[in-house]
Amino acid sequence: MVKPAVFVARMIPAAGLDPILQACDARVWEGELPPPRDELLRAIEGCDGVLALLTDRVDDEFLDRAGPQLKVVSNFAVGFDNIDVPACTRRGIPVGNTPGVLTETTADLAWALLMAAGRRVAEGDRYVRAGRWKTWGPMLLMGPDVHRSTLGIVGFGRIGQAVARRAMGFGMTILYYDTRQADAAIETGLGASFVPLEELLERSDFVSLHVNLTDETRHLVNAERLGRMQPSAVLVNTSRGPVVDQRALFEALRDGVIFAAALDVTDPEPIVPDDPLLSLDNCLVVPHIASASRATRGKMAAMAAANLLAGVRGERLPTPVNPEVYEGR
Ligand code: DGY
Repeated sequence: MVKPAVFVARMIPAAGLDPILQACDARVWEGELPPPRDELLRAIEGCDGVLALLTDRVDDEFLDRAGPQLKVVSNFAVGFDNIDVPACTRRGIPVGNTPGVLTETTADLAWALLMAAGRRVAEGDRYVRAGRWKTWGPMLLMGPDVHRSTLGIVGFGRIGQAVARRAMGFGMTILYYDTRQADAAIETGLGASFVPLEELLERSDFVSLHVNLTDETRHLVNAERLGRMQPSAVLVNTSRGPVVDQRALFEALRDGVIFAAALDVTDPEPIVPDDPLLSLDNCLVVPHIASASRATRGKMAAMAAANLLAGVRGERLPTPVNPEVYEGR
């Protein structure tokens, strides 16, 4: 029997790669960097399925080049802003993502960033390595307390709620904002209060972003909103880079409008080496690693493979982001 042809856009953990290699005629992009656009478009021609990463843009051009036999696009991520989902839906192509498995791991990193930016961990490390540590200093590298402070969570889905659980252990006051209020049981369980975004920004010592990137959330955190935050506040972004207006963030950090920021995501990615943010001691940047625990990346790989294999077999994806493609089938 002829095996389905698939393209896997990067090396992924064996938990996902092995079942794909067994079941499919698979081409795997082995480069450390994503396939350049022209190579990607060439590689997907005639494929039944594609396992894409958040670095691969899936749009009409991509779908045209792949051809009418394409049965599934499986994204190796919970976010899918790299994919034009309506374009896939119009063509009846299901799109899969990896929800749930990376919730706690991502919340762990958001927490690490929150602690590190507030308590100046990366800055302290640089200070020591630069040979600047001469003595114990009563005023050296002071920052805000995390415990019993106020945390504002913007986007109160799975990951936002997982961050709230961590904040409970630190005795924090938890505020949240989302487009709709969570169930009372969730609010009570987490001791979280729903407030307007402006109020959250004004009252929070720490603000952590957990929204999807959409037209509505692009530059959600802009100069005006940064201006509402306290001069002692810390901003943490593990969502998507464009949710923050990066130029406005640079100015706010430089001018002391807010105290510090910690970013797992930037706009663009990777951040360019001469981006002014990287000149600031009060900005911590890591390379989009929130889900990067060995266990979680294995689970993401297995889930992305399950979506891909179901799709090429014509079965319903375990986790489709556009289940409407199945209506009327
Ligand atoms: C996602 O899954 O959307 C993350 O950004 C990467 O794990």
